[in-house]
Amino acid sequence: MKVNGIPYRSIWLGSDGRNVQIIDQTRLPHDFPVVDLTTMDEAAVAIRDMWVRGAPLIGATAAYGMALQMADDPSDAALAHAYDVLHATRPTAINLRWALDDMRGLLAPLAPSDRAEAAYARAAEICDEDVEINRRIGEHGVALIEAIAARKSGPVNILTHCNAGWLATVDWGTATSPIYQAVERGIDVHVWVDETRPRNQGAHLTSWEMASHGIPHHLIVDNAGGHLMQRGQVDLCIVGTDRTTAQGDVCNKIGTYLKALAAQDNGVPFYVALPSPTIDWRVRDGVAEIPIEERGGDEVTRIWGRDDTGQVRQVQISPDATPGANPAFDVTPARLVTGLITERGIAPASAEGLAAMFPEHAAAAAE
Ligand code: MRU
Repeated sequence: MKVNGIPYRSIWLGSDGRNVQIIDQTRLPHDFPVVDLTTMDEAAVAIRDMWVRGAPLIGATAAYGMALQMADDPSDAALAHAYDVLHATRPTAINLRWALDDMRGLLAPLAPSDRAEAAYARAAEICDEDVEINRRIGEHGVALIEAIAARKSGPVNILTHCNAGWLATVDWGTATSPIYQAVERGIDVHVWVDETRPRNQGAHLTSWEMASHGIPHHLIVDNAGGHLMQRGQVDLCIVGTDRTTAQGDVCNKIGTYLKALAAQDNGVPFYVALPSPTIDWRVRDGVAEIPIEERGGDEVTRIWGRDDTGQVRQVQISPDATPGANPAFDVTPARLVTGLITERGIAPASAEGLAAMFPEHAAAAAE
């Protein structure tokens, strides 16, 4: 996507062909710093401290983290060490394990002297694949928006939660790809952006993406969605996911479940956009089996923003004696999900629906 007229991806190889460049997303929307990752440890910090975040981008950064390690030390011990360090950065997004397994599977059988070149090539391929997958998610998802536009006057109102935009992927985004493609087709859309406390990915990132692309949108507090749905002001919800199980349960940013409940009560279609590496074929019951990241309570008791003098600062919003509790994700059971928008098409959120869309994984899922 373009930033001030310049096309960007969220991660790319530096001009020296070794270091990796990312956007430090903790500083958006008030600043746009491009940061160099020069070692595997720096890639791990970037994921853990959420300079990069969003399931597909976490996977892509881990792949480049492995490549940086191979450039420094391509030994078996270094390969195993990089896998462990990167794997420990964040627990919920399955794309992390997917990318690390993919890289280790490719690199382990190679002679150490061949590993760095192969690692950079595969990391670049993972990024390109992600872009193409997300473009195709948009092609399938735009049909939903088109169908709504055909039967109503005025804009198609789409509610989204957290940031499943281009910043969360390598490009296009998952939930936002159908929106971009609808805009390209001249469809009148309007996006309700959930602020997404505590870290405000909606306020900081999705709003910035929408504004940068000139897409009509409003930022709303997390609790507004149900009210808007009752009033007929939401035609469609599209969210992303960090891990979707083989039976279609969807783990995503905390608060997604409540939106799905409100959507069902109000007859609003609730779709989840996901690339296939976000499906965890080893897991069925999302509530019981997906590890939910617990983050620091200070993300709840404090909030970042720019004051009227232009200074970006953090303030405390609760009493000193009040601790914050911060589960970062929740699970929306498959029964609340209208459909899963994948790169192959829109699948019912069920074991049968996913197995029919991805038959090559059906055996693994059945075990
Ligand atoms: O904690 P984050 O910002 O990494 O959480 C991101 C989300 O929850 C996204 O919705 C999800 O990763 C899908 S991104 C296409």
